[in-house]
Amino acid sequence: MENRIIELVQEIQSANPNGQGELEVFRLKYISKKGSISELFETLKTLPKEEKQRFGKPLNELKQLAESKFTEWQEKLESSSSAASLDIDFTLPPVPEKQGNQHPLTLTRNRIIEIFERLGFSVADGPEIEDDWHNFSALNFPENHPAREMQDTFFVEKKGQDGASQDMLLRTHTSNVQVRMMTNQKPPIRAIMPGRVYRNEAISARAHCFFHQVEGLYVDRNVGFADLKQTLYHFAKEMYGQDTKIRFRPSFFPFTEPSAEIDISCLICKGKGCNVCKYSGWVEIAGSGMVHPNVLRHCGIDPEEFTGFAFGMGIERVTMLRYQVNDLRLYSENDLRFLRQFSTVV
Ligand code: DAH
Repeated sequence: MENRIIELVQEIQSANPNGQGELEVFRLKYISKKGSISELFETLKTLPKEEKQRFGKPLNELKQLAESKFTEWQEKLESSSSAASLDIDFTLPPVPEKQGNQHPLTLTRNRIIEIFERLGFSVADGPEIEDDWHNFSALNFPENHPAREMQDTFFVEKKGQDGASQDMLLRTHTSNVQVRMMTNQKPPIRAIMPGRVYRNEAISARAHCFFHQVEGLYVDRNVGFADLKQTLYHFAKEMYGQDTKIRFRPSFFPFTEPSAEIDISCLICKGKGCNVCKYSGWVEIAGSGMVHPNVLRHCGIDPEEFTGFAFGMGIERVTMLRYQVNDLRLYSENDLRFLRQFSTVV
């Protein structure tokens, strides 16, 4: 008995079944009911009591050894065969991870900044929660101007430290930053001011309660309308291509005199007429004008000495023409099918 156990331990330890077939032979030979280990257990039953006690333990150990070897080989075989059956080509390059990309409005804003920075404009920022003076009064809006009314402006109440409340508002345009710049620094001032603005409008394809503008301001001695025209002409060509035409239409803003709205030739139909340009061949992208002397005065700048031009353009509108987006709501709905389209556009 003793020799037989030693013999089997050696056999099992040196066994190295290769493949499922050989493993099955191993199982039949040692572990199965008719295998050599079961045989030994049968013999053990016939032995006298002390012998049973003597060989019981080593025989059990032998059984455990055979079984653990068997499961070890079986697991090895299974893992190697499952990798093979997956049929993976490990030499292939990995699938690229999806990367995030910039929002189309960010791409357009950055491009606008790039164009104006090369003309010597710096970039400035101002508050979105503003007081009436910076958003309206300083900009020469009369007391009863319709833009101040509730239908356009979101008012918010601000409690001061003394507990008194003050009427504040969400800025309706980026022109408030013009006022902040002109009150805080002396001319020459040459800056663009991108940012978000708010209006109490029903949301539709063409209007939204928040959108983005870029304000432009150039104040110095002898700044004239020709400077405004040339600057925006340059901008339009840089943004939309050298063939782009630009048109100034007389308009009215309280803070500029004279005032003009700026149209660019429709890129989509090349002036032939389409639904984007409403069959006019032109699309409006900005309001502009020469800074009104009252505005300069309100900000502590002498209009006899300095003049300036200003403009404000809608980033959504510029983006719409750039990428032919026909619904403003797409910009804020976070639909990845829309947003991913801009991953390769710089
Ligand atoms: N603030 C105007 C608006 O929101 C746009 C504008 C027009 C800005 C003329 C200007 C300007 O600076 O000169 O509609």
